[in-house]
Amino acid sequence: MESGSNFGSFAGNLMSKSIVVSHLKRTKINTALTETPVGLAICVKGWVRTKRESKNVVFINLNDGSTIDNLQIVVNPAQFDSSILDTISTGASMSISGKLNESQGAGQRVELIAEKLEILGVADPEKFPLQPKRHSLEFLREIAHLRPRTNTFAAILRVRHNLAYAIHKFFNDKGFVYIHTPIITGSDAEGAGEMFRVTTLNPTNPPKTDKGEVDYTKDFFGKETNLTVSGQLEGELAALALTEIYTFGPTFRAENSNTSRHLAEFWMMEPEMAFYDITDNMDLAEEMLKYIIKYALQNCTPDLEFLNKRLLEEEKNKKQEERSEMSLLERLAFIVDNDFVRLTYTEAIDILRNSKSNQKKKFQFLIEEWGADLQSEHERYLVEKHFKKPVILKDYPATIKAFYMRQNDDGKTVAAMDVLFPGIGEIIGGSQREERYDKLYDKIRELGIDEDTLWWYLETRKFGTVPHSGFGLGFERLVQFVTGMGNIRDVIPFPRTPGSADF
Ligand code: 4AD
Ligand code: MG
Repeated sequence: MESGSNFGSFAGNLMSKSIVVSHLKRTKINTALTETPVGLAICVKGWVRTKRESKNVVFINLNDGSTIDNLQIVVNPAQFDSSILDTISTGASMSISGKLNESQGAGQRVELIAEKLEILGVADPEKFPLQPKRHSLEFLREIAHLRPRTNTFAAILRVRHNLAYAIHKFFNDKGFVYIHTPIITGSDAEGAGEMFRVTTLNPTNPPKTDKGEVDYTKDFFGKETNLTVSGQLEGELAALALTEIYTFGPTFRAENSNTSRHLAEFWMMEPEMAFYDITDNMDLAEEMLKYIIKYALQNCTPDLEFLNKRLLEEEKNKKQEERSEMSLLERLAFIVDNDFVRLTYTEAIDILRNSKSNQKKKFQFLIEEWGADLQSEHERYLVEKHFKKPVILKDYPATIKAFYMRQNDDGKTVAAMDVLFPGIGEIIGGSQREERYDKLYDKIRELGIDEDTLWWYLETRKFGTVPHSGFGLGFERLVQFVTGMGNIRDVIPFPRTPGSADF
């Protein structure tokens, strides 16, 4: 990697070139590394990753987040004030101008011969927590304000961006309309009661009703409100006019799940389509996932190769039987190239009940009878052990699913569908919706849901109702799958989990 650059011969040009470099516009490091012609004078700005010095040369690796790769800056120490050179350390921000030379070392096309160095912000090496070595993910979570400056997190953030863009592109190209659904709502879309309250009432002395209860009619919105758990219900209203829509925004769940797959604040992408039945819904979910993952494979190659290598390193520390059979890149290609397996909940229960894991009591939650809710260990058994493919389960028992799902003719199941992925379990949850007013109304009554909070939802079934379907993709679970990160806290810039809302 060390390059024996030829600034000896270049030094003669220094004076004339330094006039040129003083007015240069900033070039992104990605552009400099891949496109800018050799010989051009450029200016780059970024953060120092490493500095290595010897008597005759100082090498600075500079990164600006435009790519995983650093630009190597070659400095002739004789040309600069040593007090300036001494303040350059890992984490410092700099503006550097000079001439782009063909790199003498392996691994990079070009390097920059520095003619002008400016330190924008120093980073005291005694105090700056990121050093050029591998830090644990746990430690990095404690310094989430600085972790985007690591290779791993910058790569994850760029992949995350590309996945979001691919979602918008997929739906835009199909003519879906992006709908912004509200974040503050007065209803509980999933009926699970796991909501964060939104209020401006004084917490120590709220107004009370005659019965001694908090009087929410005096609250900001004149009623109880909360942060939304899903944009679906409002999405349905739009689909029943525009036919094909999607929402993509933050959702909030006050469930006390301290797992590697749950966040209290996460992003959900929810398409909703009039005139789609459950099969159309499954087809769209499969096509979409393949499209997005293919997009990432084609557009995030350097970052995914880096994450692939990272995971292979991590796997080396695992026991043989715990290692995955496929590398990250193989897993992604596998999803794109293979049909998902589709089966009913009832068929899945039979497989699980008869599985070795169940009979040898290896599951934490044993499957005993039809109607049991599936845990992540069951979902992953089906995907990773039994089918070795992504799985779409459908027709779940009505008792374990939300009120809005379409009731099947058997009187026991609903037209629900969950997409299950290796390493993740449920990545998508969706259904055909109950479009029949009477059936929906009876269900709402049966579950004791306050129908006054859903009068507008019910009205759509009175005026021009149509069969329709939709689903929700947990965006961070997708990012987890594509980046191979084991913990969901590491794929969102600033995670919110029970007991933790820093940054
Ligand atoms: O299955 P869920 O609860 O479905 C809905 O909210 C429906 N309204 C979606 C729809 O039909 N429009 O959530 C959808 C997905 C899950 O499959 C999962 O990937 C993700 O959202 N998810 C979470 N992701 C991170 N943290 C949590 N606490 C999550 N809860 C659900
Ligand atoms: Mg679900």
